[in-house]
Amino acid sequence: MPRLRFWLLTAALTISGCGGPYPQSTLHPRSDFGRAVDHLFTDIFWWAAGVFVVVEALLVIALIRFRHREGRPAPKPTHGHTVLEIAWTLAPAVILVFVAVPTVRTIFATAGEAPADALRVEVTGHQWWWEYKYPDLGITSANEMHVPVGRPVQVAITSADVIHSFWAPALGGKRDAIPGHVNRIAFRADAVGDYSGQCAEFCGASHANMRLRVLVDADSVFQAWVKTEQGGPAAPAAGSLAARGKEVFLHSPCLACHTIQGVSPGVIGPNLTHVGSRGTIAGGIFPNDSAHLASWIADAPSLKPGSLMTRMKPPLTDADIAALVAYLQSLK
Ligand code: CUA
Repeated sequence: MPRLRFWLLTAALTISGCGGPYPQSTLHPRSDFGRAVDHLFTDIFWWAAGVFVVVEALLVIALIRFRHREGRPAPKPTHGHTVLEIAWTLAPAVILVFVAVPTVRTIFATAGEAPADALRVEVTGHQWWWEYKYPDLGITSANEMHVPVGRPVQVAITSADVIHSFWAPALGGKRDAIPGHVNRIAFRADAVGDYSGQCAEFCGASHANMRLRVLVDADSVFQAWVKTEQGGPAAPAAGSLAARGKEVFLHSPCLACHTIQGVSPGVIGPNLTHVGSRGTIAGGIFPNDSAHLASWIADAPSLKPGSLMTRMKPPLTDADIAALVAYLQSLK
């Protein structure tokens, strides 16, 4: 009875993995890059399945035919069977060619130059967040990358510190972000949506907290986003809580690390010029709401181990933090 219970529990735990949804599955591709990887995976899966069936069948036959029986002499070993040896050397080599050629072809096809009209995005991995620059549009943003649907995108990937890996499974990646080196991927998204991804190369204490979002917008939505991002933030209304928050910001160490266009020049942390319009903070791990912003400002390392944004000394008062939150939320 305890054994039955054990197996039932094991089966329940295993089946619970089939529940979904799977926002980061490569098996639901939403771009040409994603489809290329999906085809490659399916092809190689069937090769592997064929090899598995043949090898296991031979193994089972050998186990049954040659197993020890009372009074029967040991089977005669085969030595130097030329045909057999050539066959089992050639067969895997041929299979490897069928695996290697499409793999290398896919790597080159997805790392190539996108067409001339492609949207160029420069991605820089930082411990532990993503920076996005649109060199032709004069935009710098963080953690949430916006691209238009149906248009080719050329992503140039590098790192500011250690090796990361950019990966939005439904759209493309995973491609290493290496300091001092640029890797490229190109993709064209099929469908409007909010696609999650994350760093896929161990990069320190908060590797698991280095998430990202790619927002694939309809063309008009993307153009509106570009227009907003290109402008500076609106100044908060005089006498408002946000206006007081701006004063707090200007007298805090925040401005040494963060850019707010027309307000502060820091380049160590994410650009905050339009932080109020983002859905998440802290490398995509928390929703961008008052409670999370306040806890983040008060004590970032307790929410994200190893965070370069340290506790403020002396700590800000709760009133100052509330004002700062109102200011950041006003930056749309
Ligand atoms: Cu960045 Cu892992």
